[in-house]
Amino acid sequence: MTLLAVAVNGRGVVDPEEPVLRADDEALLRGRAAFETIRVYGGTPFKLAEHLDRLAASAERIGLPAVNRLELDELARQALDAAGAPDSVLRLIWTPTPAALALVSELGDHYDDLRARGQALISLRGIRAEEPWMLPGVKSTSYAVNMAAEAEARRRGADDAVFVDAAGIVLEGPTTNIWWRRERTLFTPSLDLGILAGVTRATVIELAGEAGYDVEEGTYVLSELQTAEEAFTSSSVREVMPVTALDDGPIARGTAADELQAALRRAAGATLAA
Ligand SMILES: Cc1ncc(COP(=O)(O)O)c(C=O)c1O
Repeated sequence: MTLLAVAVNGRGVVDPEEPVLRADDEALLRGRAAFETIRVYGGTPFKLAEHLDRLAASAERIGLPAVNRLELDELARQALDAAGAPDSVLRLIWTPTPAALALVSELGDHYDDLRARGQALISLRGIRAEEPWMLPGVKSTSYAVNMAAEAEARRRGADDAVFVDAAGIVLEGPTTNIWWRRERTLFTPSLDLGILAGVTRATVIELAGEAGYDVEEGTYVLSELQTAEEAFTSSSVREVMPVTALDDGPIARGTAADELQAALRRAAGATLAA
């Protein structure tokens, strides 16, 4: 994703080529920082308040200084103004020094192309955050393992991965939540499994209810997903993304994913209009 604009606490908008962190910031040394990735529609970050809530909670759990929401909000506005790209990706980063960063990047067509084609997933044995010190539900910058999982999926000719725990319980993707459908019920793993409480996941739960689907959150083994009538992932940047293959088997393409993607875009448009 091409970086379009950067804003930093105490400095405002800076050239994206400029260094913005101290060399001893533990964000860099240890991956000890909190971050959020937010989809921008028509210049407005979608569900910004919810992302700031999660950022504040992540920072607290990691033991960072309290998040200054007003400052981040202002930095986000400055970076978005400087970028001038109505449909883009906003990243907010909060580090121990504390440095507060707002980054705006280009979105590209890649995700819409993938949505049209449908994505192939592979299942990978992941680590389930079972203890509080394993930071369940925390969005920290320690994402090297998540990125390695994506790379492993691509190495095996797939588009993305879905993590299962040692007992084969379905968790989430490296940067997505996972969903599947059987008749009019949508299934998604429970937040009790230590997965990230996706902002899009919460939005999809709402939209699914409005569209007449039941939503069941629980503990499911991989075969439940493998034998689903339809499956998709959700995330801020990828939005609702159909899954058309898992490991060696196909998954049928259904209409719920397209319906919910359209509803998500309508919700984003409604936020814009409000
Ligand atoms: C591990 C993980 N799960 C789920 C998600 C989806 O969360 P959201 O819908 O808030 O983007 C993300 C987002 O990056 C993630 O990193």
